[in-house]
Amino acid sequence: MPRDYVEDELSRKSVFKSEHYLSIDYVPENLPHRENELRSLAQNFKTLISSPGRTSQKFIIEGPVGTGKTAVAKRFAEQMVHAARRRDIRFHKLHINCRVNKSAYLVYLKILREFKPEFPRRGHSPEELLQMIVEVLENEDRYLLLILDELDYFIKQKGGDILYNLTRLMDDQLNAQQRLSMIGVGRQIRLDENLFDSSTLSTLQRNIVRFERYNATELSDILSERIKMAFEDRAVMSETLQLICEIASERGDARYAIELLWRAGKQADSTTSSVILPDYARKAKADTHPELRKEILESLPIQSHLLLLAAARKLKEGRSAYVTIGEVEDMYRSVCEEYDSEPRAHTQVWEWVQDLNAHGVIDTKRSGVGQRGQTTLVGLSDVPADLLEQYLLGLLDKGRL
Ligand SMILES: Nc1ncnc2c1ncn2[C@@H]1O[C@H](COP(=O)(O)OP(=O)(O)OP(=O)(O)O)[C@@H](O)[C@H]1O
Ligand SMILES: [Mg+2]
Repeated sequence: MPRDYVEDELSRKSVFKSEHYLSIDYVPENLPHRENELRSLAQNFKTLISSPGRTSQKFIIEGPVGTGKTAVAKRFAEQMVHAARRRDIRFHKLHINCRVNKSAYLVYLKILREFKPEFPRRGHSPEELLQMIVEVLENEDRYLLLILDELDYFIKQKGGDILYNLTRLMDDQLNAQQRLSMIGVGRQIRLDENLFDSSTLSTLQRNIVRFERYNATELSDILSERIKMAFEDRAVMSETLQLICEIASERGDARYAIELLWRAGKQADSTTSSVILPDYARKAKADTHPELRKEILESLPIQSHLLLLAAARKLKEGRSAYVTIGEVEDMYRSVCEEYDSEPRAHTQVWEWVQDLNAHGVIDTKRSGVGQRGQTTLVGLSDVPADLLEQYLLGLLDKGRL
């Protein structure tokens, strides 16, 4: 009988029971070690349900990578909606990623479309959209909890007006019902006078929930819950779990811990082992580069990939921490040639550099007045140039297929 490779694969044992519990988008029911944060949010937001329309709330959730900010905000908003539904209040939640919806216009559009899905993309000013949001909420007696995720990026680019405009919405009308509340989420949200009006600023400064990095024990509790759902019984050795938590505790990052666990599981499958040995975790560590923020890099346009590739190559070649923007542009032109792409003008390149800086992918600073005169210097934030280059080559190749 000829060998049937498909049947072979299908009948092959896997350490995974339901891999999707380890996927990035999955938000677990329980969030161990974030109980206090969830309670604190609930205490502050409960009036939105006990006395709808009386007040609105504005909060900031801040903390390092992978500390559960997005997960907590989503889970909390969900619980608010359920509580409201039990009381027949028309309460909505909307999670907006401000790195994807990069302008106030796109954010407003997204809000409006939550209530009017067919609303056209073009043809209105941001002010008109805002006005329509007010009307929809008012006329249909609805309330909205808005989660503005990755808000730090947005504020760096556009300042804090969006918060002012959104919160001021209801204030214009006498005795109006307060229908919009929000939670801003980010690693570090710059709260300074230049970016915000004074009343928004003072509210926000009082309402910050800070998330700390997880230690190894906390990570172990988080992973243990996932392991029960995602893996076959006894597939994950306790030594392996411990090792993963130790590795990930250096960053305090639950996303990294979950990725290590998933990769270690893949390693077990590829060697047809029914248990995940500690060595698979070590191998996973060597293959995982948490400093390479893939979700950010993937979301960038191809032209930014080319520019970033140029910067990575120049930095590698020069073996220095920074190169000038002129040097990057020279390299960019040759990269464009290699990829049959028309290089863009300096002003456009300059905008991309600012954008990459706001994303935290590159680091820019002004040079001192030296031989070259004053110019902008470009460096990389966390990632080794070599690693970034390899990753970008992969992305660009995929794009060419
Ligand atoms: N306390 C927790 N319990 C269970 N899972 C958690 C917990 N904290 C984080 N996670 C999981 O870890 C991963 C990263 O969490 P999350 O996306 O919320 O981090 P974040 O703080 O928003 O990070 P970033 O700053 O990169 O956006 C997610 O898969 C999330 O479900
Ligand atoms: Mg997040």
